[in-house]
Amino acid sequence: MTLHSASVHLVVVVFLSADCILSLGSSKCVPRDFGHGSVVCECNSTYCDSVGSVRLPPVGLFSSYLSSRAGSRMEQTLGHSQANSTGAGLRLTIEKQQKYQMIRGFGGAMTDAAAINILSLSAGAQEQLLRQYFSDDGIGYSIVRVPMASCDFSTRLYTYADTPADYNLDGFTLAPEDVNMKIPLLQRAQTMSPQPLSLLASAWSAPSWMKTNGALTGKGSLKGQPGGKEYKTWAHYYIRFLEEYAKYNLTFWALTTGNEPTAGLMTNYSFQALGFTPEQQRDWVAMDLGPALHASSFPHTHIIILDDNRLLLPHWAKVVLSDVQSGRYIHGVAVHWYMDRLIPADISLGTTHHLYPEYYLIGTEACAGWSPLDRGVKLGSWDRAEQYAHDIIEDLNQYVVGWTDWNLALDLTGGPNWVKNFVDSPVIVDAKQDVFYKQPTFYSMAHFSKFLWEGSQRVGLSASTQTKLEYSAFIRPDQSVVLIILNRSPSEVEFEVWDPAVGFLQATAPAHSLLTLAWNTH
Ligand SMILES: *[C@@H]1O[C@H](CO)[C@@H](O)[C@H](O)[C@H]1NC(C)=O
Ligand SMILES: *[C@@H]1O[C@H](CO)[C@@H](O)[C@H](O)[C@H]1NC(C)=O
Ligand SMILES: *[C@@H]1O[C@H](CO)[C@@H](O)[C@H](O)[C@H]1NC(C)=O
Ligand SMILES: *[C@@H]1O[C@H](CO)[C@@H](O)[C@H](O)[C@H]1NC(C)=O
Repeated sequence: MTLHSASVHLVVVVFLSADCILSLGSSKCVPRDFGHGSVVCECNSTYCDSVGSVRLPPVGLFSSYLSSRAGSRMEQTLGHSQANSTGAGLRLTIEKQQKYQMIRGFGGAMTDAAAINILSLSAGAQEQLLRQYFSDDGIGYSIVRVPMASCDFSTRLYTYADTPADYNLDGFTLAPEDVNMKIPLLQRAQTMSPQPLSLLASAWSAPSWMKTNGALTGKGSLKGQPGGKEYKTWAHYYIRFLEEYAKYNLTFWALTTGNEPTAGLMTNYSFQALGFTPEQQRDWVAMDLGPALHASSFPHTHIIILDDNRLLLPHWAKVVLSDVQSGRYIHGVAVHWYMDRLIPADISLGTTHHLYPEYYLIGTEACAGWSPLDRGVKLGSWDRAEQYAHDIIEDLNQYVVGWTDWNLALDLTGGPNWVKNFVDSPVIVDAKQDVFYKQPTFYSMAHFSKFLWEGSQRVGLSASTQTKLEYSAFIRPDQSVVLIILNRSPSEVEFEVWDPAVGFLQATAPAHSLLTLAWNTH
């Protein structure tokens, strides 16, 4: 067994240098068990676990990052590729000639609630929290969704133009929530991010005086018809928002046509909403929003439609995108993850992609703890980490280019939220103790967001036998390969990966685990 001991020796040598070469600034999770199946990692003003700044080893070796219900959190190991099959029962073959969508990025939302929670910490802990998401040793978030004015995750109801009949928007002003909380945090996030952040704006409700029901909540739409003065003013409101944020050096990559347009079509909807049918959305983009944005100082800002559950696809896309007048202003279709179980991804997302391949699909909202059957914060829930990873993999395998989580941070009750619509977040803040907890869902995001840079392209992956593993594979712009594997089953799965460029990689997916494998090819 001389060969065997030689390779063990090689691994030892590599491990000695690994600390400095591969994981600059890595530090371990401080686990806390709240009895919900797994642990959270506790962070404070002076300490937070981190996988560090990741660099891949030279060809011949591969990096593996493991998180699991048993307690691993982005635990890094190195393996070496082999010329021959390892003999594992399951072989996953990277099919580089099959090329699919390019990745845009991953992120979360700077809601009023998120900003309040982040700012409730000491300056040191705020910095640690922001670094976790945005810095080079964080998890690589590049998308930040910014609600325009209030939503349910606010402490009061407001818009930027609450003076009745202000059709010129002379009184348009950002709120204290923007100026004192969200904007300074976005600027800090931008400063620590190695890349320009892709900001994404979504409005929940128009001012009440523009609406049929005269209120921000409940069933109500814009008064009049597309092309009319309320619809024109509502388009102008978006431009004014972009102008005001630009004064703070924050420019938006994209805006959506409005959060969950179907919410505002429901009787007595409990929080801020603005109803649009797909026909109204189509005509508003064609007659008002598209031309207004095109003529503004922000002609390159993307317009993304839907921003609602995927069960509305492909119908919604067919109505809005089949029309050339609206379609020419639009770049993408945004989906939320609620009720994803009711409609398969291929029927909704896949069909939409094949009908309209020139428009990208992107996830713009998701959170755990929203269902009445499983409400609010659950510290350390591994089930929820699996829900995230399952949905992300399913979306990525059906042409989605990015996945945006909901609130970047919430408090221990899952708020604040003025209608008590409390949910979970990957980061839960305990202001009294000046700590924050990184939930298992934080690491679900990390397994994708830290590795799938903008411009990474999904490639084919074939399995030699039936398997319970869920997976998605990518080639990054530098030709390195990233493979993410989810095992939701209660048993360990041994497998090998075959990449003709480097050989065979031997790996094991423990029970209830998430694994990212990454390797250089030249
Ligand atoms: C922060 O956490 C670290 C690791 O648990 C601990 O050593 C340190 O004392 C804590 N610092 C504060 C200010 O609580
Ligand atoms: C690899 O397989 C070939 C053909 O089966 C065999 O000749 C060779 O010895 C194997 N190499 C190793 C390192 O096991
Ligand atoms: C705005 O951003 C640009 C580019 O990122 C930078 O050069 C400039 O200094 C910033 N201006 C202010 C006022 O922050
Ligand atoms: C809507 O709210 C009003 C006022 O609270 C109530 O009278 C009515 O029954 C509600 N309608 C539905 C369908 O829930």
